[in-house]
Amino acid sequence: MRKNKQLGKYIWDVKNMVGSIIIFFFIIGTLATLAYYYVNLDLEQHPVVKLYTPNTSAYDSLDGCDLFSGRWVHDNHSYPLYKDLDCPYIFGDFACGQYGRLDSNYQQWRWQPHGCTLPRFDSKQVLEKLRGKRVLFIGDSVNRNQWVSMVCMLQTAIPLGRKKMQKIPKVSLLTFKALEYDVSIDFYWAPLLVESNGDHPIKHKTNDRIVRIKSIEHHAKNWVNVDVLVFNSYLWWRTPTVKILNESSQDSKQYNIVNNHRGYRMVMKTWSDWLYTHINHTRTQSYFISMTATHHRGIEWGRKDDENCLDETEPVTQDEFWESGSDLKMLRILDSSLNKLKTRGVKVQMINITQLTQYRKDAHPSIHRLHYSPLTNKQLSNPSSYADCTHWCLPGVPDVWNELLLSYILRKRK
Ligand SMILES: *[C@@H]1O[C@H](CO)[C@@H](O)[C@H](O)[C@H]1NC(C)=O
Ligand SMILES: *[C@@H]1O[C@H](CO)[C@@H](O)[C@H](O)[C@H]1NC(C)=O
Ligand SMILES: *[C@@H]1O[C@H](CO)[C@@H](O)[C@H](O)[C@H]1NC(C)=O
Ligand SMILES: *[C@@H]1O[C@H](CO)[C@@H](O)[C@H](O)[C@H]1NC(C)=O
Ligand SMILES: *[C@@H]1O[C@H](CO)[C@@H](O)[C@H](O)[C@H]1NC(C)=O
Repeated sequence: MRKNKQLGKYIWDVKNMVGSIIIFFFIIGTLATLAYYYVNLDLEQHPVVKLYTPNTSAYDSLDGCDLFSGRWVHDNHSYPLYKDLDCPYIFGDFACGQYGRLDSNYQQWRWQPHGCTLPRFDSKQVLEKLRGKRVLFIGDSVNRNQWVSMVCMLQTAIPLGRKKMQKIPKVSLLTFKALEYDVSIDFYWAPLLVESNGDHPIKHKTNDRIVRIKSIEHHAKNWVNVDVLVFNSYLWWRTPTVKILNESSQDSKQYNIVNNHRGYRMVMKTWSDWLYTHINHTRTQSYFISMTATHHRGIEWGRKDDENCLDETEPVTQDEFWESGSDLKMLRILDSSLNKLKTRGVKVQMINITQLTQYRKDAHPSIHRLHYSPLTNKQLSNPSSYADCTHWCLPGVPDVWNELLLSYILRKRK
């Protein structure tokens, strides 16, 4: 009897165990099924993650066309590409609407190359094509202007909670992430590319440029493992001379003064050598954005001598217009540096926006931007004296630079 009882207990245990196993698998199965439906539900609720085949043949058809020679055409049907209130990342220098600019005509211009037409911008298509990629803008405040524009162009397609903007501490890096696409659009502050006394992203106001002509590594170590590099460097070279610190000397008072062109040429050499040795050009595409126009001398487009971009609402219509603040010699130095790299087997495509920005006297912030120091009474009595005719309102002209840039990035043949 006792034995039977023990046997009974034993059988009960076995039954119990089998039961447990069945229940265990039942629960796992239920969870798996739920998970399956949940994921599919998620796909249906957020069409953003649906597989999407971009039609990039529109970009491929641009092969052989000179995109940089053309004219501006008013097109309030396709432009602006986004509304300023829909982009939370437009700040201080570029937020013309928030700082009182009321006209919007300047946002409604399409760049029409003479030999072809740019495909219509489609943020989902572009994000899909950039999937898994990291794009890094490196340079000065005009390059940051373009980076903010790129983020604004892409972010409209991404729902809240699926994007993230971050400032990386101790590195001059801002990073925007489109989480579902695993896309990162970043900006690194390096206005002279090499080390200089202007390296602090905010505290860099000085009239005395001091440049460590051969020291690039401190910055450039942050530029590797990137799929698309987008450089610029122009604004900070517009002083007649720069002070060049001697590499081998730790004494920061030992410098040579050279003219800006010579300094620029030396820095382009340092940059080229770095790019040649440190970048895997099978993985990484490199671009250089050429200098952009400033509109400080109204007399060049038929205004008075002391007038500038303030209150301008229409582009210049004169073909081949050129404003005297654009230093053609700097463009030639850039062009020849890129040609030299090409002979070494490294392709860096110049995004030649110099001519197309010449016409756009209407598209600067002028007085409609954040002013970092309070305006004096003298300034206030003469608004054109503090008008910003260097940066560009968003939405606006930089959106077109990005359309041009993307038309290369997304093309099969570069
Ligand atoms: C893709 O774009 C090209 C050029 O714009 C067009 O001719 C073609 O019909 C498009 N293909 C599809 C599948 O939409
Ligand atoms: C840039 O584009 C303009 C307009 O097409 C052209 O005149 C100029 O020669 C180009 N410059 C360089 C360096 O490619
Ligand atoms: C677009 O511009 C045309 C003239 O180019 C004008 O007649 C029309 O009213 C404008 N439409 C909007 C919505 O601003
Ligand atoms: C740096 O100093 C060395 C030796 O003092 C000198 O030979 C060299 O030309 C200097 N370089 C620059 C860029 O001034
Ligand atoms: C360069 O990048 C390509 C493509 O990602 C990769 O296949 C190759 O191994 C890389 N080469 C080196 C030396 O890392």
